[in-house]
Amino acid sequence: MDGYTDSPFRRIIKNIAPETVCFSEFYSADGLVHSKQLQQTALAHDASEKPLIIQIFGKDPEMFRKAAILIEQAGAAGVDVNMGCPAKKVVKSGHGSSLMINTETAFRIIEEMSKAVKIPISVKTRLGWNNWEEHLIPFAKGLQNAGANLITVHGRTYQQAFTGSADWTGIYELKKNLSIPVIGNGDVLDYDDGIKRLENLNGFMIGRACFGNPWCFLPGGYIPTLEEILTIMHEHGRLLVENKGRKGILESRKHLVQYLHGFAGVKEYRKSLVSVESLEDIDNVLLRIRNEHTGLLNMKLERGKEAVMDAWVGEDCNL
Ligand SMILES: Cc1cc2nc3c(=O)[nH]c(=O)nc-3n(C[C@H](O)[C@H](O)[C@H](O)COP(=O)(O)O)c2cc1C
Repeated sequence: MDGYTDSPFRRIIKNIAPETVCFSEFYSADGLVHSKQLQQTALAHDASEKPLIIQIFGKDPEMFRKAAILIEQAGAAGVDVNMGCPAKKVVKSGHGSSLMINTETAFRIIEEMSKAVKIPISVKTRLGWNNWEEHLIPFAKGLQNAGANLITVHGRTYQQAFTGSADWTGIYELKKNLSIPVIGNGDVLDYDDGIKRLENLNGFMIGRACFGNPWCFLPGGYIPTLEEILTIMHEHGRLLVENKGRKGILESRKHLVQYLHGFAGVKEYRKSLVSVESLEDIDNVLLRIRNEHTGLLNMKLERGKEAVMDAWVGEDCNL
């Protein structure tokens, strides 16, 4: 997920829930081919993040072919193609969701990639442009015929963007018509919720619910104590700084406030976290929380479903 599933966050998730398969943020296929700098940031990952799937977007089959080779050489377990991002800028450029209607290009992209690499090729898409009944099944069958090895479907249409709730009916129907694995996505709150929705699918994908809550990937509705949350907040900040320097500190502001979402009395701490300038600043806020809530440190702090959903933002795909 753009702006979220970078190497530091993936390491946090894998440390807590090692069975999780992580997908990277999305990267421009053209950018990967042409920019050494992007290759370094996008492709570098720690052994603990494996198996890692790297996602790319674009519209030129030749760029996808070249990018897939780079991704394979970097040791990724798979390469995922974004055919679902609804952001205006992305769609206007012929990327993301627009590939759901430019199907010939979508199929050629997969064909070119599958000729070039041995690692699995997957596609992340949505139900369709404005409904699933008309095009989802033929579109996905076309991708399967072109060589796609797995498809993930977010249960909303392009037109819905992030409104309403995800409808998994079309995803279950799709699975009956494909031989490759199908992963369901949309509004999953945690591992147990995903299992409840699974039905005939091969897996589920959790998106927004993991922001500030890497424990959501654990079975059994795992609830961390305040101490565990503070420890992971420090570790997340530390990894961001180690990985990205000053940029990491700026990014930590967005990540760390999410860990406190849904808990009473956090306003002051949130204010401090969104202006941190160093790891020391982060640690000072965490120390303040520890000192002011000593009695809560070993308590499991449950946030309600409403609190989780309340925090959800739409996809902005900052390109
Ligand atoms: C901030 C943000 C960034 C996202 N970035 C991507 C992305 O880079 N690639 C992608 O396939 N989906 C992206 N998505 C969509 C999610 O993968 C997922 O399909 C969507 O959020 C619905 O699942 P959820 O309800 O579990 O969040 C993004 C969503 C959000 C909110």
